[in-house]
Amino acid sequence: MAYRNLELGNRGAVRTIVVNRPDKLNALDRQTLNELTLAFAQAAQDDAVRVVVLAGAGEKAFVAGADISEMSGCSSVQAQAFSRAGQRLMSSIERLGKPVIARVQGFALGGGMELAMACHLRVASEKAKFGQPEINLGLIPGFGGTQRLLRLAGRSAALELCLTGTPVNAQRAYELGIVNRVVAPEALDETVEALADQLAAAAPLAAAGILDAVLQGGETSLDQGLEFETQGFALMFSTEDMREGTRAFLEKRKAAFKGR
Ligand code: COA
Repeated sequence: MAYRNLELGNRGAVRTIVVNRPDKLNALDRQTLNELTLAFAQAAQDDAVRVVVLAGAGEKAFVAGADISEMSGCSSVQAQAFSRAGQRLMSSIERLGKPVIARVQGFALGGGMELAMACHLRVASEKAKFGQPEINLGLIPGFGGTQRLLRLAGRSAALELCLTGTPVNAQRAYELGIVNRVVAPEALDETVEALADQLAAAAPLAAAGILDAVLQGGETSLDQGLEFETQGFALMFSTEDMREGTRAFLEKRKAAFKGR
């Protein structure tokens, strides 16, 4: 299908999804939300895709939030549907079963920060800015920001960012645990590509198991999380990849994982 507001690319097993509305700082309108939902569903189903990189077009913004002009005329009922659609997209990214890396070169605000937080890893340029400025519009975050920021950075940081609405720079976001890596703008692409390639070469079923265990573990008791881990660990012993990985180690060669 042809996308109006996204650009898709493939580099080996890495699928790149670029939000492409640079004149609106890649703001998320309904159309873009729908297209992202479809693009991630396709990436989930395509066995050739092992890693997804999510980015925003242009220099200025990853995504500057939900589309304010579209939102401004919404009724409560429409806003509820918009929030649910956004939350479904974010949850589908989180539960994709394949690692998703956000490449953040500029503003990641509101829905943009929520989108970045739904990804599994975030690599940011030193010029990036992260914030939940909804309060400045008389709003609260609606695509999972209050919940994912709480889980990612703790209550104190979640309350500070959401209550003040003031963005933080990439270094501060790193200190708060929101961002995995901060690099110079000119090193952003090579850093993202190297990380994506590393993850794409890893055993896909093990990656899926790790994503599952960590995400489930964040929502449950330690005992339940440990049991979940044991089940996932045991399941790996039924995969060809586990036999290949252990055999390759013993034969002192590099493993070739097939996702089986
Ligand atoms: N929704 C809709 N349009 C947006 C947008 C958003 N979230 N963010 C930026 N835009 C549009 C602007 O309206 C402008 O469009 P125009 O040229 O047709 O007037 C264009 O993108 C460029 O933005 P502009 O504000 O001129 O750039 P700037 O460099 O002066 O400021 C920001 C950049 C990010 C600080 C500013 O755009 C901003 O505060 N955006 C809203 C952030 C926000 O509140 N997000 C949460 C939404 S819930």
